[in-house]
Amino acid sequence: MIIGLLACRIFDTNNGPKDQGKITSSISFKNHVYFPIALLWLKLCRYLFSNIVPCRFARPGPGGGCLARDVHIKMETKMVRILAIYGSPRRKGNTSLLLKRAVQGANEAGAEVEEVVLRDLKMSPCLEIYGCKETGRCVIQDDFQEVYDQILACHGLMLASPIFFYTVSAHTKILMDRCQSLWAKRYWLEKTPIGKRKAKRKGLFIAAGATRGKRLFEGTLLSIRYFFDALDVELWRSLLYRGLDFEGDVLKHPEYLEEAYREGSELVHYQENS
Ligand SMILES: Cc1cc2nc3c(=O)[nH]c(=O)nc-3n(C[C@H](O)[C@H](O)[C@H](O)COP(=O)(O)O)c2cc1C
Repeated sequence: MIIGLLACRIFDTNNGPKDQGKITSSISFKNHVYFPIALLWLKLCRYLFSNIVPCRFARPGPGGGCLARDVHIKMETKMVRILAIYGSPRRKGNTSLLLKRAVQGANEAGAEVEEVVLRDLKMSPCLEIYGCKETGRCVIQDDFQEVYDQILACHGLMLASPIFFYTVSAHTKILMDRCQSLWAKRYWLEKTPIGKRKAKRKGLFIAAGATRGKRLFEGTLLSIRYFFDALDVELWRSLLYRGLDFEGDVLKHPEYLEEAYREGSELVHYQENS
């Protein structure tokens, strides 16, 4: 723009004395010619120079900056938010280690992952008072309230629980029952026809048991499928491991941990593309 205007000025000052009487019409004529050139020049400069900008969000481009185009794309494609729920009473138990790897996979695939450790929360069991019938929200005021919001806000879910007497742990079961409020919201308040609407969000379930029985996970899987459905989440994949008993047993099976990492990462890609 500045160069274009300068060009106009230079051209004008080059007018000879015989042109001085016509200077006004000469300037406006030349500006008609040079102003569009100045605008084109401006557009070119903007393309060439403002394409490189510092930013915190996008991948670094050459020279430490990143392409403005990348920022734009990154801002348009919302970041996938994954909620990871640890259901074991053991902090470093088998399912916790597996879920931790899945979380790493999801993080490295670009997701924002929130982790909830159920054993750290103060959560009452469901009291079956059905206060949730009015608003779809549980009326018991405890740590579940935050988990409820996190469940609603996530794009994808990962849940890990040990097998206790052929079902999930007590911590996990308490959460499941409190989510009856989400069932009430979905089926009573929003009147979703049962079994008609496919959930958009996907869920990964991880479980471990000590024994090797063929039917070890059967009951649990049925519960998890219906639990996920109440949350408007489809049971996308499950990672079920037999023969893990003592804390850290899973470390003897790096292939299980690798599988968990891969699935965590795939869940993000799957969610991004759906
Ligand atoms: C209360 C309790 C009940 C259990 N019930 C079963 C069971 O029904 N079947 C089984 O194979 N393992 C059972 N186990 C073993 C755990 O499933 C196993 O140790 C698992 O690896 C624990 O996972 P974690 O380390 O993630 O907590 C039980 C363990 C406990 C403490």
